[in-house]
Amino acid sequence: MLYRLARSAIFKLDAEKAHEMAIHNFARFTGTPLDFFYRQNLPDRPVTVMGITFKNSVGLAAGMDKDGECIDAFGAMGFGCVEVGTVTPRPQLGNDKPRVFRVIAAEGLINRFGFNNKGVDNLIENVKKSQFNGVIGINIGKNKDTPIENGVDDYLICMEKVYPYAGYIAVNISSPNTPGLRTLQYGEALDDLLVQLKQKQTALATEHGKYIPLALKIAPDLTDDELVQITQSLLKHQMDGVIATNTTLDRSLIQGLPNCDEAGGLSGRPLQNRSTEVVRRLAELLDGQIPIIGVGGIDSLVAAREKIDAGAQLVQIYSGFIYQGPKLVKEIALNL
Ligand SMILES: Cc1cc2nc3c(=O)[nH]c(=O)nc-3n(C[C@H](O)[C@H](O)[C@H](O)COP(=O)(O)O)c2cc1C
Repeated sequence: MLYRLARSAIFKLDAEKAHEMAIHNFARFTGTPLDFFYRQNLPDRPVTVMGITFKNSVGLAAGMDKDGECIDAFGAMGFGCVEVGTVTPRPQLGNDKPRVFRVIAAEGLINRFGFNNKGVDNLIENVKKSQFNGVIGINIGKNKDTPIENGVDDYLICMEKVYPYAGYIAVNISSPNTPGLRTLQYGEALDDLLVQLKQKQTALATEHGKYIPLALKIAPDLTDDELVQITQSLLKHQMDGVIATNTTLDRSLIQGLPNCDEAGGLSGRPLQNRSTEVVRRLAELLDGQIPIIGVGGIDSLVAAREKIDAGAQLVQIYSGFIYQGPKLVKEIALNL
């Protein structure tokens, strides 16, 4: 009810301004009496995935708290896991504004942020300050001005820096808003990336005396052949997890709606079925050997259950949270 009221005011603002305002206030209010607006003290419903125990099965998807500025606020809302980032080695501004749009009639969002973030060092300082007692996933990417053929270097730089502070590391090769990034999902480029990441993980595990799982985040816009190849690479390189999916370039379900022609990745309800299909196919191909984190269009307990029934072990939400607020976290965390 409170969120519904707040939402009608928030939705009058430009989408990025609303987001900035929310992040700013969450960061200010957490730990003060003003956090009553979103605090939800939920009983734990632990689940172990990738060798890590999560307080519950619901995580915040990457991109909401790119710089890790209000991890504790999302923790207070009841998320069992907060995935911060995508972060890049160096700070970058991202694409020109406006770059995020609501597709209200379909409960969707289109964004072309392009990894705006304050850089990996800043993110680490924020993670260090956090008091959150859940899992912090750190999602890493490449700077826009790093040529794609050197992209692996950016992932390795980020990985080395975040390793001591991450519950798991998510490797984002599926944003549609960094030119060329999605080419890392295919063939030799993917194998080369995974070989180097796994070598780095082995070295860092020895250095730090702890094993931090690596999960690959993939796009929904993959053909069946491409999914087959990706799963073969995941298995060959013994990746620890796969996050499915990122946003889609497909606009077929929002034709004619306001903002439908904006460039960028579409998320929210119009992505729901496609991301579930990807989860289902991954589950078939991986046959339980690598855990799946399901994300895309989860806007209810039923939608979360569909991801789990399709083969996901955990779920994440982003757009559903924007449209429905913290009650969605509670509904799913308590009942999944
Ligand atoms: C505004 C916005 C920014 C996003 N930024 C990132 C990002 O930086 N890194 C990433 O891996 N995914 C990013 N995503 C994708 C989400 O993490 C998620 O995979 C996708 O939105 C599907 O989930 P949803 O339908 O619940 O939103 C972003 C999504 C939105 C809407």
